Amino acid sequence: MTTAAATDPSALLAGLPARQGFGDATLIRLAPGSIDLGGGNPATDLLPIDVYQDAFGAVTGSTEFSALLKYTPAAGLPSLREAIARREGVAPERILITNGGAHGLALAVLGTLDPGDVIVVDDPVYPLFLRVLDLIGVSVVPVPVAADGIDTDDLERRLSEGLRPKALFTVPTFQNPSGVTLSTAREAALVALAERYGFTIIADDPYRAIAFPGTAVPDRAAFRRSDRVLAVNTFSKTLGPGLRLGWIVLPEGAAEGYTRLRNRLDGQTSGVLQAVVQRMLDDDRLDPSIVAAGAAYAGKARALTDALREEFGDAVQIPNPAGGFFAWPRFTGDVDFAALFEAAQDRGVTYQRGEWFAAQGEGFAGFARLSFSEVSIADLREGVARLGQAWRSLGGRG
Ligand SMILES: Cc1ncc(COP(=O)(O)O)c(C=O)c1O
Repeated sequence: MTTAAATDPSALLAGLPARQGFGDATLIRLAPGSIDLGGGNPATDLLPIDVYQDAFGAVTGSTEFSALLKYTPAAGLPSLREAIARREGVAPERILITNGGAHGLALAVLGTLDPGDVIVVDDPVYPLFLRVLDLIGVSVVPVPVAADGIDTDDLERRLSEGLRPKALFTVPTFQNPSGVTLSTAREAALVALAERYGFTIIADDPYRAIAFPGTAVPDRAAFRRSDRVLAVNTFSKTLGPGLRLGWIVLPEGAAEGYTRLRNRLDGQTSGVLQAVVQRMLDDDRLDPSIVAAGAAYAGKARALTDALREEFGDAVQIPNPAGGFFAWPRFTGDVDFAALFEAAQDRGVTYQRGEWFAAQGEGFAGFARLSFSEVSIADLREGVARLGQAWRSLGGRG
């Protein structure tokens, strides 16, 4: 018997493709004892739980608590907008509080693009951004990510040949998946191109605070100064994705329009959580805890890359991550990489396949996104050993 759908879907809903590759949970097999190198969570033991507890206690115990249970301003609590603005070095009017990075990306896409527009994206790309684009229906033009960020020389050539994008999407710091950081020179070149050719840069920067010791992160002054940039960010990687809180740094004068847009979607972010985060940002213990987490992630990254080089020798090329959550090795050899993924899962390790990060079509076979953030050093080594067994079972040599 067939049952009728309870409601007839809109063309938008009916047309949304199911997730394929990245984010398709049916492809991931996690048996008990499996090691998951596929995720994007921070390590919960590196989150500032004590700072959270004190902030929650202070907020629920304060006289303002009952007011926080009412509707609060759609753009965000003024005190949180100010706290974030101070850190960003911009006026508070430019900050819009969101329910996390994905929400900020959806607002940026809905506020920038019309059906049929062209958008340039990182290649490899953060795949869930492409899923946000499904809301609109646009043409995607991949531009390669070089060792110092999205290749502005390649972009300039294509623009001079007639490419006219409405927007460009990049993850500028410790890019997901490649770990690459956009240099200050490329940032300036990108802004100059945006201003010359009239497109908007959507800069999605959730990993900026996860810098390993000794790594200087560009301050993004060119992005902040330009009225062509929407800088989307989130506390998901520093305070945990369960929080669902982020922000956008908008060009001057743009907050009113974007607030009107978000009013049509969700009205506001939880005032209670905003007040908690504002207290956390004002707590002297927070920044040292984020720096300490960066050092711990650096140790995990090193353990992972050392193990990969030991296990695979010449068969792997792997840049050393300088921050973020991911390693992006490239394996070389006459191996069927789809079969490798299955053989690895048979042996109890899973990861994200390189092909799932291609901005279009096939590409990045032989690459893998291996996440070290949440995994213990012992499990990182064991995971690599299992991957090595899978590799050799298919005839790969290291
Ligand atoms: C590049 C990038 N953008 C956005 C997000 C989404 O952030 P949020 O969990 O705050 O929605 C992630 C999370 O993995 C990410 O890696």
